[in-house]
This record gives sequence, C-alpha cells and structure tokens, in this order.
Amino acid sequence: MAAILDPNPVTYYKRYRMELDLVAPLPAVSALPAGFAWQAWEDRLLETHALVKYECFRGELDGVIFPNLSDRDGCAQLMRDIAARPGFRPESTWLVTHGDTSVATIQGVSDRAGTGCIQNVGVIPAYRGRGLGLAILLQALHGFRRYGLAKATLEVTAQNENAVRMYRQVGFRFRKTLYKLVEQSTYRLEPEWLL
Ligand SMILES: CC(C)(COP(=O)(O)OP(=O)(O)OC[C@H]1O[C@@H](n2cnc3c(N)ncnc32)[C@H](O)[C@@H]1OP(=O)(O)O)[C@@H](O)C(=O)NCCC(=O)NCCS
Repeated sequence: MAAILDPNPVTYYKRYRMELDLVAPLPAVSALPAGFAWQAWEDRLLETHALVKYECFRGELDGVIFPNLSDRDGCAQLMRDIAARPGFRPESTWLVTHGDTSVATIQGVSDRAGTGCIQNVGVIPAYRGRGLGLAILLQALHGFRRYGLAKATLEVTAQNENAVRMYRQVGFRFRKTLYKLVEQSTYRLEPEWLL
C-alpha cells in the first residue's frame, strides 16, 4: 500500500509565557562593557532596529517559528507594526552600539491592563556572552517601570534555553505553556530543532 504523505506536515513548538512583578525589587541596569553605548529610541532608528533584529534572529529557532524574523523585509514590517501600536513604549525600546555598529535591540509595548510586553530581544551572534542581552533586557524593564507599569510579560520558545535562563535570572517566572503550530513547508529544516 502506498504511503500517503501530508503535503504540509506541522510541528508544534512549546513556548512559555513568563511574567515579572515590576513592583518587586529589580536589578539595576548593568554597566555596558567598555566601548559599548546605549542608543535610545528615535523614529529615524526604525530601520536600524529592523536590521539588527534580522541579524539576531536569522539562523535561530525563533527565525524558523516566526519566518518574518529571518527575513529583512519581514523585520522591517514588524518594526513598523510595533512602532505604530498605541502601546508602543519608546522608554523600553533600545539599541546597544559598538562604534558605528548597532549590536543589540529590544522593543517594548504596553497593553490596556498595564502590562509591559517585551518584544524581540536580540544580540548579534559575535557580541553574545558579554552581558549585553541581560543589560538591554533590564534597560527595557526599567523603562516599563518609569512609565508606571506593574507587570512585564514575554513569550519564549522552550528550546531557547539561554533566553529562558536569562529571563529567570532577572526574576521572570513561568505562567503558561503554549504551543505554536508551524507548517514545515514554510521553513528550512534544521534537524536539531525538530521535536
Ligand atoms: C538570548 C540572547 C539575547 C542572550 O544575549 P547575550 O548577550 O548572549 O546574553 P548575556 O551575555 O547578557 O547573558 C545573560 C544570561 O543569559 C543566559 N545565557 C546567555 N547565553 C548563554 C549561554 N550560551 N549559555 C548559558 N547561558 C546563557 C545566562 O543566564 C546569562 O547570564 P550569566 O552570564 O550570568 O550566566 C542572545 O543569545 C540572542 O540574541 N539570541 C537570539 C535571539 C533570541 O533568541 N532572543 C530571545 C527571544 S525570546
């Protein structure tokens, strides 16, 4: 008997929703290593955020689960969408620069319930492991606090253990498990990522 192959097989990726109480003590924003600097949000930086986002997520599992993250135009559209949202929080939207190069990005938005939602935090691969991810995450969380938000939330792919560890380190706790369906025909297969 001939096997019947599903033309669009799907994979479910486990994701966690994590939350942080912003009223409780929060670690101070760590000092950046020598040679790195903060760049606060300005409208003219939209394309730079998009480009850094693309450099951070292409080749990563989240770039597979959310194909727009591994596509330059997809990242540009995503940044336009984020910046146009009524809850867009400039005080939680940052770049880290190294000379003329932007090497890390984060954006924040708030919802009507007064929760700050971390969007896509990323550090370009060559600059990872130096504390930049933790620093930019804390910078965004302090931005939420300055705006008066009492809670922060984010979603992370369960297999993204480095990110989960970073979030737990600042105090985020698991609240909910979600499953994101991805049609395999829409992504490039990377065997170690398959469940
Ligand atoms: C997740 C990410 C932002 C971390 O950036 P980073 O600059 O390397 O992180 P830091 O150097 O600040 O490390 C912060 C903490 O994260 C965890 N961590 C980060 N990289 C790690 C690694 N390779 N191994 C173990 N833990 C790691 C640790 O808890 C670390 O704290 P520690 O150094 O005190 O142990 C980066 O790996 C990245 O951009 N990944 C791709 C995009 C992505 O997945 N973003 C998250 C979407 S939810």
